[in-house]
Amino acid sequence: MSIRTLDDLLAEGVSGRRVLVRADLNVPLDKQTGAITDDGRIRAVLPTLGALVEAGAKVVVCSHLGRPKGAPDPQFSLGPVAGRLGELLGAPVRFATDTVGDSARSTVADLADGQVALLENLRFNAGETSKDEAERGAFADQLAAFGDAYVDDAFGAVHRKHASVYDVPARLPHVAGRLVLREVEVLSKLTGDPERPYVVVLGGSKVSDKLAVIEALLPTVDRLLIGGGMCFTFLKAQGLEVGTSLLEKDMVETCRNLLERSNGKILLPVDVVVADAFAPDAAHDTVRVDGIPSHRLGLDVGPETVAGFSAALSPAKTIFWNGPMGVFEMPAFAAGTRGIAEAITKADAFSVVGGGDSAAAVRALGLDESSFGHISTGGGASLEYLEGKALPGIAALEN
Ligand code: 3PG
Ligand code: MG
Repeated sequence: MSIRTLDDLLAEGVSGRRVLVRADLNVPLDKQTGAITDDGRIRAVLPTLGALVEAGAKVVVCSHLGRPKGAPDPQFSLGPVAGRLGELLGAPVRFATDTVGDSARSTVADLADGQVALLENLRFNAGETSKDEAERGAFADQLAAFGDAYVDDAFGAVHRKHASVYDVPARLPHVAGRLVLREVEVLSKLTGDPERPYVVVLGGSKVSDKLAVIEALLPTVDRLLIGGGMCFTFLKAQGLEVGTSLLEKDMVETCRNLLERSNGKILLPVDVVVADAFAPDAAHDTVRVDGIPSHRLGLDVGPETVAGFSAALSPAKTIFWNGPMGVFEMPAFAAGTRGIAEAITKADAFSVVGGGDSAAAVRALGLDESSFGHISTGGGASLEYLEGKALPGIAALEN
C-alpha cells in the first residue's frame, strides 16, 4: 500500500505545525437527553490525537455527526463531543461554534503547540456532501486553510466522497492515522486469504443495504448466517408468512434468487420472538418461523436459532459480524444478539465486529470487547471494503 502514515508525518516533525485531522466522531446520542450513549468512536481516535499532541502539533479536529441537511441544526452539534474528547485526552478541547467561519478561524489561530481544537459539524455546510465538485472544492479550500498537513483517521467515513474525506487530501500533504491503518490492515485479512471455515453473520434492519455485500461474500464465505430485521424478507422469499414484521417487498425476488444460488451456505432463523408491538413491554412469545401470527412482528431470533447459528460458528477460524440479531436495545429482544455475540467469542477464530450498531451492542450488552479480534468503527465503510469497492477516502490517501 502506497499510503503515507502518521509515523511518516511525525518523523518529519510536527511541532508548531497545524495538523488537520478528519475523525469520525459520529457517536450515538440519547434521543431524549442528547447525551452520548457510546463513546467508542471518540476513544478510537485517541492514539492518533495523543501522538500529535505529544509531538507538539496544533491539532485541528473535524467530523460529521448525524445527517443534518447542510445548515446548522443544534441537535447535531459536536459541542458535547468536544467535552467528552477533552475528558478522554485529559486536557480541554477548544470548540469552534462554526466549521469554517469566524469562530473556527480565531480558534485555529489561537491554538498553542500541543493544543486540540474541534470544529463544529462538517455537515452544517452544504459543501461537505455536495455532488457538485466545485461546491465541494470551495468548502475543501476553506478547510484546508486550517492545516499544514492532513491526517485521515475517520475510517467510518472513508466510503463517503465528501469534501473533508476526498477533496481536502488533494490540497494538503496527507497521511493515514493509526485507526484507519489498523482497520485496513484487519479488513484486508478478510478479503485476502481468510483461514477457514470463514463464517459471516449479518443482521440489522435493511436487506437493501446488505445486498451488495451478500453478493460479494457468497463465493468467498463458507457460511452466511442471516438474522435481524432483514431475515424476514428472506423468510418471505422462502414462502413463509411474516405477520407485521419488517419486510422489503421489492427485495423478496432478489432474496429468493440469492437463496437459490447460495449452495446452502445461507442459514436463516428457524424460530423468532414475536411481539404485539414495537415496544419494550409488548407481550411476546417464541414461535417457529412457519407459525408467525398475522398480527404480530418478529423482534429477535429465537433460542433454537441461536443454538443453530452457534453450532455453525463454533468450528469457524474467521468470523465477520455486522448487524444485531434483534432489537437489542430492549431487554426482551436482546437474547439473540447476546447469544450470537457469545458464540463468536467462544469460537477459536479471528473475529471482526463491523459497524457502529454491532459495536455499540457489544458494549451495551456488557460483553468483553477484548474477546473479539477487532471491533471496527465503520459500518457502511467495512461492508463496502468487504465488497471490494474502491473507497474514496482511501483512494485519496493513495494519490
Ligand atoms: C456511520 O455512522 O456509518 C459513519 O459515521 C458515516 O455516516 P453516514 O452514513 O451518515 O455517512
Ligand atoms: Mg452508518
